[in-house]
Amino acid sequence: MIHPFKELRKLFPTLTNTIHLSSCSQSAISLTVKDAIDSYLQSWTEKGMDWEGWMKEVQNAKNEFARLINADSDEIAVLSSVSDAASSFASALTFSTGRNKVVTTDIDFPCVGHVWLSHERRNAKVTFLPPEEDSTIQFQSYERAIDSNTVVTSIPHVSYYNGFKQDLKQLSYLAHSKGSYLFVDAYQSAGSVVIDVKDSDVDALVAGAQKFLLGIPGIAFMYIKRELANSLQSLTTGWFSRQNPFAFTNQILDYANGTRRFDTGTPPMINAFAARAGISLLNNIGVESIESYLKHLSSICIEAAQKHQLEIASPLDLDQKGSNTALRIKSASKLEAYLKSQGIIVAARNDVLRIAPHFYNTEDEVIKAVEAIAHALITK
Ligand SMILES: Cc1ncc(COP(=O)(O)O)c(C=O)c1O
Repeated sequence: MIHPFKELRKLFPTLTNTIHLSSCSQSAISLTVKDAIDSYLQSWTEKGMDWEGWMKEVQNAKNEFARLINADSDEIAVLSSVSDAASSFASALTFSTGRNKVVTTDIDFPCVGHVWLSHERRNAKVTFLPPEEDSTIQFQSYERAIDSNTVVTSIPHVSYYNGFKQDLKQLSYLAHSKGSYLFVDAYQSAGSVVIDVKDSDVDALVAGAQKFLLGIPGIAFMYIKRELANSLQSLTTGWFSRQNPFAFTNQILDYANGTRRFDTGTPPMINAFAARAGISLLNNIGVESIESYLKHLSSICIEAAQKHQLEIASPLDLDQKGSNTALRIKSASKLEAYLKSQGIIVAARNDVLRIAPHFYNTEDEVIKAVEAIAHALITK
C-alpha cells in the first residue's frame, strides 16, 4: 500500500534517524507542535506576559478536542492528567445505598481503578470485571455485572495493555438501560480511532495529550454531556470552575454552566499550545483516514509477528483493536531498552512489548521493528 501520509513525514524530523512506534506512550515530536511550544516561549520573552493570548490558546485546545470527538466546546474541561479528570468526575457522583455500585474492569489503566477505590470511603462499591484469557472483556460480563444498583460503568475505549477496543455505543446503551452513566478513558484511542460522543451517547470521556494526540504530558481533556455536567458539582474545584473567575469574591461558589465547572486552577498553558497544535493537525488530516491506515499497519504487524512465531497478546480481529499490537515477551523492558539503543522506539508494559504506530509510520518501519525483536530474542 502506498503510504497515504508520506508527505507529512517531513513534519517529524526525528523519523529520519529513529523508528518511532510508541504512540501508546509518547508520539513523535512534530515541527507543528515544536513551533507551538516555541510560540508560547516567544510571547513570554517578547511580551513579558500574554494572559489573553495564552488563555485563548487553552480555549482553542478545548475547541480542537471538542471537534475531534464531535462535542460542543462548552462540554470540555481542561485538567492536568487523566487521573485528575477521573478523580474530579468521581467526586461529583453520589454513592447512595441502592445506587452505589461502580462497574469497572481489570483492563483499565490502574489510575482509574485507584480513583474508584478511593470512593469506597464515600460508600462506593467497586466491582472489577476480570479479563478473559485473551485480555478482553466480553459484552456478556458487562450484562451480568451492570444492574439497577450501578451508578457508573467505567471502561477504557482501547486497552493500554493489548489495544483491545470496545464498542462504546453498545456499552452506553446497556449502561443507560440500567440507569448507569458510562465513563470512558479514551487516552489510548483519541487521535487514532474515530470517537463520536453524540452518536455513542457516552456520558463522560477523558484523554490526555501525550499519546496519539501528538502533544506533551501535563494536560488532559474531559468531556461531560452538557445536561449531566450542569447537574454535577465536583469536590475538586477552583476559581476557573466559577461563573466568573475574576469576580474575586471568596464567599460565593457559583459553578459555571456546562463542563467548564470542572476546570480548576490556572490551566496548563504551555501544554495547551502543544495540544492545540497536535489535535488540529489530526483534525485537518481526519481521524477516519488515520484509523483506516492504522488498521492496515496492524495487519502488517500481525502478519510479520506470525511469520516470526512471536506470541501476539492483541486481538487478531482488526475491528476489535486499536493501533497497538502487543507481543508477549518475558523481559519486555530489557528488550525495549536494547531496541532504543538501536534507534527503534517501542513501549514495554509488564510482559508485553507494544508496537503502536501513528499515521506517520510506514509498513517498512513496522516490519523492521518486528524483525529486530525476533532477531534480538534469538541472539540475546
Ligand atoms: C489508558 C490510559 N489511561 C490513563 C493513563 C494515565 O494517565 P495520566 O498519567 O494522565 O493520569 C494512561 C497512561 O499510560 C493510559 O494508557
